[in-house]
Amino acid sequence: MKIFMLLALAMSSYAADLTGNWLVKQESPDGNVRETYLDLKQDGTNITGAVRNINRDQKILSGSMDADGKVTIVLQGQNNRPGQRIMAKFANGELRVTMAGPRGTQPEEIVATRAAEGAGGPPAKIAPPELHKVPYNGLAKTPPMGWNSWNKFAGRVTAEDVKGMADAIVSSGMKAAGYIYVNIDDTWEGMRDTNGNITSNKKFPDMKGLADYVHSKGLKIGIYSSPGPKTCAGYEGSYGHEDQDAKTWASWGIDYLKYDWCSAGRIYKDEDMHAVYQKMGDALRKTGRPIVYSLCQYGRADVWTWAPEVSGNLWRTTGDIRDSWDSMTKIGFGQNDLAKWAAPGHWNDPDMLEIGNGGMSNSEYQVHMSLWSLLSAPLLAGNDLRTATPEILAILTNPEVIRIDQDKAGHQATRLSQNGEQEIWVKDLADGGKAIGLFNRATDAANMQIKWADAGITGKRKVRDLWAKSDVKWDDSGYSAQVPGHGVALIRVSK
Ligand code: GLA
Repeated sequence: MKIFMLLALAMSSYAADLTGNWLVKQESPDGNVRETYLDLKQDGTNITGAVRNINRDQKILSGSMDADGKVTIVLQGQNNRPGQRIMAKFANGELRVTMAGPRGTQPEEIVATRAAEGAGGPPAKIAPPELHKVPYNGLAKTPPMGWNSWNKFAGRVTAEDVKGMADAIVSSGMKAAGYIYVNIDDTWEGMRDTNGNITSNKKFPDMKGLADYVHSKGLKIGIYSSPGPKTCAGYEGSYGHEDQDAKTWASWGIDYLKYDWCSAGRIYKDEDMHAVYQKMGDALRKTGRPIVYSLCQYGRADVWTWAPEVSGNLWRTTGDIRDSWDSMTKIGFGQNDLAKWAAPGHWNDPDMLEIGNGGMSNSEYQVHMSLWSLLSAPLLAGNDLRTATPEILAILTNPEVIRIDQDKAGHQATRLSQNGEQEIWVKDLADGGKAIGLFNRATDAANMQIKWADAGITGKRKVRDLWAKSDVKWDDSGYSAQVPGHGVALIRVSK
C-alpha cells in the first residue's frame, strides 16, 4: 500500500514537471543569440504543445518522456508529416535540450530556463502604411552583377572573406567583366544599441571601414536585412526600425539591399507584402543615397506585378537555389511565364549563381550561365572567387555571354519549343538580333536543330557560337548542333 502511494506520488510529480514554457538560448560564436521556446504540456509520458522560434510556430506532432527522463519531440512538418526531431533530457528539474549547431558544427546541449506563459510569440503588428507609388530609383538599368556570400559561406562569412572577395573580383578579371556588387548576405548583424541603432557582430567589426575598402577597389557593397524582427538565420531584422536602418546603412556607404521576408511572415499576411516592402522602399529613398533594392519573398503574392511600384529593382521568383542540376534546372526552366515582367530597372530574380560551388559539372554550369543570361537574370556569383579555377572563371566571365544578359533592351527569353528533354529558348536583343539557347536536359548527347523560320529569322545573318567563341558558317535552313548531355549550344544571330 505504502509503495503504491509513493509510486502514485512519484508519477504525479513526474507528470506535471515538464509542463510550461521553456526558453533555450543558443549563442553563436559571433555573439548572436537565437531563442527557441518549447511550450510543453505533459500528461503522463505524453508531451504535447508547440515549439516557437523567430520564424516559426510549430505544433508538436508527437512527444514523449521515458522513465529515464529522455524526451523526444517530433514537430509537425509539411502536410502534417513528421518534421524536425528534438531530443532532450529531463533530470532533477533541469531540462537539457540538444540543439543543432550552425552548419558544419556539432549539436550542443543547452540548459533551458523557465519562461513566462505566451513568451516567444510574434510582436504586435505595426500596420503598414497606405499604398502609394515610390518613384523608380534610376538604378539597375541592366541586371545587377556581382557576388553574394550566402551560397558558399552561409552563416560563416566574415569581413575578411568579403575583403578577400573584393580583391579576388579585381585580380580574377570578374570586375573587368562587369561584376561590381560585393554583397554581404545574412549573419553580419549585431544587436541594437541603446538608441535602437543596428550594429554589426563580431565577424564584422567595422562596417564603414569594410565599405570604404570595397569602394577603394572601384566596387560597390551590398547588405541584407528583413522586414521582420529577425532574419531567416535568426539575426536582428529591421521591423519597426526601417528608416533608422536605412540611414545607418547609407552612413556606412551601402549601395545595395537584399530584403528578405523571413519572420515578417509571423506578423503579416502575403497581401500585406506590397505595403511592407513599400515602407523600406520609402526609407531607402529618404536616405538620398542610390541603393539598389532587391526583394526576397520567394515569388509570393505576384510580386512582379507590384515590385516596381515600391522602387524594387529585382525580386526573387522562387525558393532558394541549391548547387544541383535538379534545383538549378527546375528554377531556370520554370521562368517562362514571367518574361513579360522583366524590363530595364526591374528584373525577375531566379536566385544567385551556384557556378563553381562543386555540385555540378562545368557543362552544367555553362547551362546555368547561359540560361540566366537569356533570362536577363541578375548575375551574382556565389562561389569562393579566391580559389576559383580558370575553367570556372571562364564560364563566369565569358564576355559574349554576359553581353546577352546585359542587353539594354531588357527582354527576357521565352521558350520557343520543347521536344522531350530538349528545349530552345530565344531572347530578342536591342540591336534587332537574337540570342538562342539549345538546351539538352537529357543525360545523353542529342542532335538539336532550329529552323530560322521558326524563330522569325529571314535572310542571311551572321551567326556566332558564344561558348566556342567562333563564327558559324551560314546555312539557309537553320542551325544544328550536337549538344552534350546536360549541355547547351548558345548562339547569337545578327539583325
Ligand atoms: C533566405 C534567402 C536566401 C538567404 C537566406 C539567409 O533563405 O532566400 O537567399 O538570404 O535566407 O538566411
